Formats: sequence, C-alpha cells, structure tokens
Amino acid sequence: MSDTAVFDVLDGLYLTVLDQVRREDRWLLWQTILTKEQRRNLVEAIPVSAHDRVLDAGCGFGALSFDIAIMKNARVVGVDISDSSLELASRINEELARILPVSPVEFISGDIYNMSLPADSFDFVIARFLFQHLDAPGKALAEMIRTVKPGGYVCLIDIDDQLEIQYPDLEEDVEGLYRSFRLLQKLENGDRMVGRKLTNYLYNAGCEIVVTILRPETECRYLAYDDPAIQFEMERLGSARSQLITRGMITGDKFDEIMEKIRRSYPRMEWRTNSEVVALGRKKTGM
Ligand SMILES: C[S@@+](CC[C@H](N)C(=O)[O-])C[C@H]1O[C@@H](n2cnc3c(N)ncnc32)[C@H](O)[C@@H]1O
Repeated sequence: MSDTAVFDVLDGLYLTVLDQVRREDRWLLWQTILTKEQRRNLVEAIPVSAHDRVLDAGCGFGALSFDIAIMKNARVVGVDISDSSLELASRINEELARILPVSPVEFISGDIYNMSLPADSFDFVIARFLFQHLDAPGKALAEMIRTVKPGGYVCLIDIDDQLEIQYPDLEEDVEGLYRSFRLLQKLENGDRMVGRKLTNYLYNAGCEIVVTILRPETECRYLAYDDPAIQFEMERLGSARSQLITRGMITGDKFDEIMEKIRRSYPRMEWRTNSEVVALGRKKTGM
C-alpha cells in the first residue's frame, strides 16, 4: 500500500474521531488535522533513517509519530502525559494495524521529566509543540538526551508568537483577547516565545548544534466562518473561556461579545503566516 493511500486512511480516521474527543481537546485535534502538510514536509526534512528507533515526546494524538513511522519506515515510540490523548492515539493505531502489516507505533504513558525509558536507546528523539507547555525545559531536555544514543539526534520544534503575521490587523479588543490567551499560557508556566530559545537549550545541555531552521507557512485566501481554520481558532480560544473568567482576566459577557465580533468579521480575505522553529542537535559521545 502506498504512503498516500495509508495517509488517506489515517487522515480519515482523525476526522471521524473529531466528535468523540473532550471539548477542551478538540482544538488540538483540529490543529493535528489542519497541519498535516506542514508536519509531513517537516518529516521529509529530518534525518531519520529506515528502522531507526524514534521517540516522539509529548506525542499528543500521535499524528507526528504515525507520519514518521510511515514516511521513514522507522520504529516509533510516542510518550505523553495525557491518558485521553493516548487513548485516542491507540485507537487510531489499532485501526491502522488492520491495513498495515505491523502496528507502526507504540504509545506509552509518561512524563517528559521522568520517562522511565532506558538510557541510550533511541536514534532520534523529537518533541513538537511540547516545550511551549513546559515550566522546566532544561530538565525535560536532559531526560530526552538521556534516552538518545551517543551521536543520535535531538530535535525540538516549536512556535514563537512574534513570528506570526496576520492581515487585516486585529481590532483592539480582539488583540486584547489574544494577549490574555497568551498570558494564560504563561501563568500556567508555558512559553509562547520558546521558538527562539530552542537552540540555546540544546547548546546549554551540551549538544552539538546541527542546524536551526525557520519554517514559515503562508496562507492567503478568502475565508468563510465555517472554514476549518476558523473553527479551529474559535475552539482554541473557546477552550480558554472558563479559565480566563476564573482568573478575572475577562468577563463572560465580554468574552462572548469578542467571539461574536470575530464571527461577524467573516467572510473576508485574510493573510496568515505561521512559522515554526526547528532546532536540531546531536548527543556528543561521552555525554
Ligand atoms: C500541543 S500538544 C503537541 C502534540 C504533538 N506533539 C503534535 O505535534 O501535534 C502538547 C502535548 O504535550 C503533552 N505534554 C504536556 N506536558 C507534558 C509532560 N510533562 N510530559 C509529557 N507530555 C506532556 C500534552 O499532553 C500534549 O499532548
């Protein structure tokens, strides 16, 4: 079966489970679905070889793990702390196993800070969109490096909010909602400016730096409100509603008013550039 045919099945499976995930997880699943081309372009570019053992740390619903397993014919282990995400990833894995000779991925429940995986056991360790959520990135990276073989690769991929461009400009109160959204992630010890720091993290952890790449994706098109990209955005903002209110960062009425304003701003022609930073390092021999 060709990779394209497997991807058709895989993408279809993610779409069918969209209604089954918890409301707060739905935007993450939308992100998984909408970023498939970006993700697969990334997988194309990373130096994973056939039969490599790959660790996908913070694998979420497992989409990157599946892409690496299929495109690179690698043996992938996906680790995540969220049981609901892993449950969904395992369900997709079982469905895929019906059409593939072997299950491509093994999913394990674990905390990035202490993964209880053997040392020096992977050829390639990757974490995509994980570090923006971590309060102790150095500790997480040390644990990733522990599991990779000497000479093996460590790859961090993440966002940096200052690398995003959108046009038309957001109105002041919509911009304010986005600021609150970013602040909320910061209050929960996350970091939406982490992209620029990834190579420093690798360097400070003692890795040899291989390359740092900025991968911009631009879309400029006429968007209707029911476009999946806008639905994803509304789910993402909506998932923060109760926390923003509980922390006194906005009232319920104001939140709903702004969401309605966003809804009314469509359809329109819109420019969006999202960039991800890829930092690739290697574990030095003797580390
Ligand atoms: C934005 S998602 C990214 C999922 C996936 N890597 C992707 O590229 O689509 C972040 C994931 O990190 C996981 N995560 C957050 N903190 C974690 C920790 N301490 N240990 C393991 N996973 C963690 C979350 O459960 C979530 O699935």
